[in-house]
Amino acid sequence: MNDNKNYIQDIILKLNKCKSKNDLNMIRSQYLGVNGIITQKFKKLKTLDVESKKKFSIKINKIKKKILKLLFLKKNTLKETMIKNLYKNNNIDISLSSKEVNLGSVHIITYSINRIINFFSKLGFEALYGPEIESDYYNFDALNIKKNHPSRDNHDTFWFNKNILLRTQTSSMQIRTMEKKTPPVRIIVPGKVYRNDSSLTHSPMFHQIEGFIIDKKINFSNLKWIMKNFLLFFFKKKCKIRFRNSYFPFTTPSAEIDIFNEISKKWLEVLGCGMIHPLVLKKVNINPEKYIGCAFGIGIERLIMLKYNILNIRSFFKNDLRLLKQFK
Ligand code: DAH
Repeated sequence: MNDNKNYIQDIILKLNKCKSKNDLNMIRSQYLGVNGIITQKFKKLKTLDVESKKKFSIKINKIKKKILKLLFLKKNTLKETMIKNLYKNNNIDISLSSKEVNLGSVHIITYSINRIINFFSKLGFEALYGPEIESDYYNFDALNIKKNHPSRDNHDTFWFNKNILLRTQTSSMQIRTMEKKTPPVRIIVPGKVYRNDSSLTHSPMFHQIEGFIIDKKINFSNLKWIMKNFLLFFFKKKCKIRFRNSYFPFTTPSAEIDIFNEISKKWLEVLGCGMIHPLVLKKVNINPEKYIGCAFGIGIERLIMLKYNILNIRSFFKNDLRLLKQFK
């Protein structure tokens, strides 16, 4: 570096004349390439004594840093000019559509559960979630389903042992909730339930939404109004429905709601409901003289199958994109 040459001035002059990326690369290697001017200077370092080495390396490193910065700035200006020119010459079509991105979609079951939660939340219902591994107390006993009651068989339960099972119904959350909350309450419980049952319309795992209200002035007409409006909302059209007298151990009176399927010209059962049995209220220390409850249980897959005319319940779980993509 005894040649006193002003490298920075030199490179600035060159960069001012530089018009392309190629020119820029040439300049870069002239200075910093394997045999570049600055690289040569670094190589000289080892021939110097300690003192001069120190001085010289500080100086040369400063110059290198400056050169790198100048090169970087020039690279950016070149890029900018190139983009400007492209626009000027109309070589960029900004109206061109972008690359297609394949977005996933919410599964039809999740989508429907969300719609249903939305409907009930407008009526003041709170959504709660409970355990899928349940005790027979919450799933059966506390719901007034006696040990030898035939409805236990109807449920075809998956048992882990004598007391622990995979819940067969989200109704189990009626008890869990009433134990914790004081009325008035309006609750819905969406979730998975399990039964040892398999056919075109039954799957060992399916989804239910349990709903219930406990309040001082609740009657069967309120329940009927909610159910009717829910079905109108769900199917998005006027559908023929009927209430049919039924039996569930935890409700009295109980009803099942059927919907008329215009394709098969048949009445199909879609959900169960009723007024909560006083014995169930007593189980959780709610005075049935003071409070009344109504409840309903909705089978999600069943409703979706009816709405979209899906014939096999397994279609939901096969992950067939042809089905899933229809519900974006
Ligand atoms: N838990 C019942 C089932 O899985 C459905 C049901 C019926 C729930 C009537 C209710 C009800 O809350 O009132 O078959």
